[in-house]
Amino acid sequence: MSTSLSWGRHYLMTEPTHYRIDYAINPFMDTEIQPDPARARAQWDTLRATIEELGGRVDVISPRADSPDMVYAMNLGFAATLAEGRRHALLSHMRFPERRNETLTAVEWFDANGWGTAYVGKDGIGPTFEAGDVFPFAGHLVAGTGPRTDEMALKTLAAEMNVRVLCVRTTHSGMYHLDLAFCPLDERRAIICPDALAPESAQALLDLIPEPLVITEEEALSTFAANSIVIGRTVVMPSCPDRIRTVLEGWGFTIRIVEMSELHLGGGSVRCVTNPLDIVVGRDLPVVYGGEVIPT
Ligand code: ARG
Repeated sequence: MSTSLSWGRHYLMTEPTHYRIDYAINPFMDTEIQPDPARARAQWDTLRATIEELGGRVDVISPRADSPDMVYAMNLGFAATLAEGRRHALLSHMRFPERRNETLTAVEWFDANGWGTAYVGKDGIGPTFEAGDVFPFAGHLVAGTGPRTDEMALKTLAAEMNVRVLCVRTTHSGMYHLDLAFCPLDERRAIICPDALAPESAQALLDLIPEPLVITEEEALSTFAANSIVIGRTVVMPSCPDRIRTVLEGWGFTIRIVEMSELHLGGGSVRCVTNPLDIVVGRDLPVVYGGEVIPT
């Protein structure tokens, strides 16, 4: 059996109090179709309780009334403990101005909780970066560029964290963050939807995954199956088609389904609302002083 991921047991989540669809910045969003606040809250509460029941920890950040997408906490920033023990967060510089105020509250939270912070860009100046595009796997910090994150952001990301970044180019408007198309499962396995990526990028990422679970565009978009989190040997997912369940269970994973339909209206699911705080450089990623970016 392949070794479980060491990270993924501690998350930051944003209370869904102000979650609404005020604008449409991805193909899932429609201002005519609003989430039911009570159901959204119940789904969020169940996800939080599930993580805690599985032995995980959840820290909660208060939402901003002016930021209805802040419930998608994955996009607040990329956080990791650096090799020398310092906790460091690279804050997102959102593509769309509608989401930029979220960073004002995120930086306060990281400051107050013992994290150093840095920016790749701010207030529309400099490259954009959204942390839902960035996940460690097989010695690389895999970073999706295109819809939300600029390639120019990756040099700073690599240098701030002292890691090797593999740049993969996203070409699919419906999979505008890498976490809609890629999910590390354990040290040898990951869910991947190659249709989300430029052919060379898809190949480079497939080459990195010893045992890939390849899903179709239709599976990724209609089930949000790649937008899952993994706690030890349990995959917490919004839904799981039988074909995917068979593969995951064959690999020894247990599936926990958490209904996320209200959160899907904004274009995000389990992963989008949970930002891992327990990634460690030197454990989950090799230390590469000065950083390195590998293009594909
Ligand atoms: N409405 C949000 C946006 O378009 C959804 C974010 C989903 N988050 C994610 N990590 N994929 O920015």
